[in-house]
Parts: sequence; C-alpha cells; structure tokens
Amino acid sequence: MGTYLRNAWYPAAWSRDIGRALMKRRLLEEDVVLYRTEAGTVCALEDVCPHRLMPLSLGKLEGDTIQCGYHGLTFDCSGKCVRVPGQDVIPQTARVRAYPIHENMGLAWIWMGDPAKADPSHVFDLPQYHDASWSAVEGDALEVAANYLSLADNLCDPSHVSFVHLSTLGNAQSEDIPVHFEVIPEEHKVLTWRWIIDAPAIPLFQKFGNFRGNVDRWHYYHYYAPNIAIIDFGSALTGTGAPEGKRGDCIQVFACHFLTPVDESHSIDYWLHVKNFHADEAMNRALSDQFRLAFNEDKEILEAIEVNERRLPGRRQIRLAIDGSPIRMRKMVSDMIGSEAPTESKAA
Ligand code: FES
Ligand SMILES: [Fe+2]
Repeated sequence: MGTYLRNAWYPAAWSRDIGRALMKRRLLEEDVVLYRTEAGTVCALEDVCPHRLMPLSLGKLEGDTIQCGYHGLTFDCSGKCVRVPGQDVIPQTARVRAYPIHENMGLAWIWMGDPAKADPSHVFDLPQYHDASWSAVEGDALEVAANYLSLADNLCDPSHVSFVHLSTLGNAQSEDIPVHFEVIPEEHKVLTWRWIIDAPAIPLFQKFGNFRGNVDRWHYYHYYAPNIAIIDFGSALTGTGAPEGKRGDCIQVFACHFLTPVDESHSIDYWLHVKNFHADEAMNRALSDQFRLAFNEDKEILEAIEVNERRLPGRRQIRLAIDGSPIRMRKMVSDMIGSEAPTESKAA
C-alpha cells in the first residue's frame, strides 16, 4: 500500500506564482508542469513527454498549448496531442496525463487521483477567508525535509508550543495544561484543543492585542485528513467569558497549513493566516515574520527527527497522552489510503 492518498486535493502552488512561464512541481513523487492559459485558467500536465520522456517544463508555450523542447510535439490543456512536426498522423498514444485543478484561497489545488472523482466543491474552504470583516494574509511555501505525516503530527500537537515557540506562540505557563482531542469521522477530522486560563498573553498577542492583564487563551487544532490543518487560536481578557463562548472582544487567528507531500521525505507547507482584525501592511508583514520564525522552529525539529528516523529505523518510540491525537490522525489517513482501490493508486 502506498503512503499517499491520491483522491484528495493538494495545493500545487500559490496562484500568484502561476503565470505564462512553465512551472515544474513535484507532488506525491510525480512531476507536474503548470501554466496559465491566455484566458487565465491554470493547466496541469504530467511533466513527461510521451515521446522520449523529455520534461515538458523544458519546452515552451505556444498560445495555450505546450510544445516539447526536443522534437516539438505539442499538447493542449487536456493533454491531447495537437501537433506532431513532420507527420500528419497523430498517434493515439500521444497523450499526456492532465490533472484537475481548482483555485481557492490564493492557491491552485490539484487532484492527483482518479479525475472522475475530482469534485471542486470539496476543495477546502475557510469562510472567514472571504469575509470582509476578517483579513487574510498569505505566507510562504515552506519546504521541509520530512515526511508530510510528521508535519501533520506537529499540527495535531498543541503541547510542543510551550517548548518550541517561546518567543512567539507560546509561553511556559501552558507547559502542564493537558490536551484534549476528539475524532470526527464524518469530517475526516481530528480536533485537538486546550485552554490556558488566566495567564499572561503570549508574545505574539502582547504585540498585537494590547491586553492590560491576564488572558484566557484557546487553541483548537482542526486537522482534516490527509493534509489540512486549521489552527484556531486566540485570547480574551480573563473574566470576559471566552471559555463559555463569549468571544466579543478578542483576538482570533486561523493559522492555515495546507500540506503537499513531495516524496517520502520532503513536504511543502503552504501557510497563511486569517485574523479578526485589520492591520496595515507593515503590521501584517510583522505578523507573518513572527509566524515564519515559529514555523522555521518546527522545520528544524522535524528535519532533525527525520534524520534520526532514517538512522534508527524501527526504534521504538514511547507514547504519551499528548500522542493520542496524532495517532488517531495517522490511523485515519491510513484507513483512507486503504480504502482507495489498488487500481486507483496511479490513475492514468
Ligand atoms: S521527446 Fe518530446 S517530442 Fe521528442
Ligand atoms: Fe509548531
């Protein structure tokens, strides 16, 4: 059984980066070439010419078609060959695999599985992203030399924040606060959360929240298998009723992480945040800088763990209460992969 779920939407690139230049991306160990048509639609084709396997990304665009840089075979956006220089007959087999693509939340999402099952209405959406009273700020595509499920573990794990992100997202007051989780099978989701009551604001919120006193802070980690993490975190002044659901005067941020497995030991984390307050460009940049700092702290840890996992294959790891959520998330991903018919593992 493979380790990737193919029938799922994965971010292939930021929409802002796809234009009239050919762009190569590797996802689930497949190479894909992306470009935009003159009308602005995104095309995604396997980055392999069916003639001599030349990467099509080394060719060029001719209008909305892509021309191989070796002998000029030319393909349209559906992968159909429309020209074979030097002959009139186009062989039936002269086809390139085309992938369904749909843009949302500033990203181009690609479907790596059976095209007949690709439903754009299932591309992940966060309603607040489109709500004018919220503000969305795009981040980066963070490359991490680790398996995507290690990133997923980290995104089901609020407890590390108290130790890893002390200068930004966490503080020592939360070290001993237990973590709770719940599995929601119908949404393919594991929800992990904890509340830190009556504690100083974390550095990030001290910077942006102007809190005059202790706060109640929540962390809800929504992990949608296989690759989507939405971290709802925020703070309100202690005593204002936030734990009971009164969040009128609070700072709330959805930190969104959309993961793409590149191969078994490389992943990309496309991250952005959506917050319930507006800020000028400099402040947004400062906020993104804080997130960037924090996510690079995760990267450093996950890459070091990946090295040790490869060096010490089969080494038993102890399990703690905080591992309940990542374990259930992995089980969910593995069950979803198991439910894909083997013939779908590489749908052509
Ligand atoms: S390798 Fe592409 S046309 Fe020959
Ligand atoms: Fe982290």
